[in-house]
Amino acid sequence: MASKQFTREEISKWKAENKNDTVFIIDNVVYDVTKFLDEHPGGHEVLQNVAGKDASEDFDDVGHSLDAKDLMQKYKVGEIVESERVYSQKRQISWEDHKQEHDSSFTSSWKFPVLLGIVVTLLYSYLFG
Ligand code: HEM
Repeated sequence: MASKQFTREEISKWKAENKNDTVFIIDNVVYDVTKFLDEHPGGHEVLQNVAGKDASEDFDDVGHSLDAKDLMQKYKVGEIVESERVYSQKRQISWEDHKQEHDSSFTSSWKFPVLLGIVVTLLYSYLFG
């Protein structure tokens, strides 16, 4: 079954109109944790503070366990409409970011040892040839 679609505005309005409901967005998914508030190991306050908002970063900052992520499924009530989804790249570390971090200056490239070899060979043959 397709999930219910919400706009971000609807989520913030939901919070404004139903003060006792705690709904927020994590990674483009909408959660209603109203019934989970008292069970949340991190306390109800942190959840209520992000009600109506996108809590993806706050959720990530805590480094929630896989168990927590499993538990979340229970509170999912829908998704953000396709046009308003955001895809964060913070956890996609690619090799592109790491390669060529060092400058390819003369001494770190292949040219330096090769040139050194030629100079030493010439010097040797000049001195002892
Ligand atoms: C449906 C959403 C959420 C679920 C199911 C959930 C579940 C959990 C669980 C099971 C823990 C215990 C530690 C762990 O297993 O990682 C935890 C800890 C915690 N959570 Fe959440 N959480 C949710 C959302 C959030 C959000 C949005 C925030 C912040 C705004 C938050 C802040 C915290 C904090 C501060 C702790 C305590 C960490 C500690 O004491 O070490 N949680 N949560």
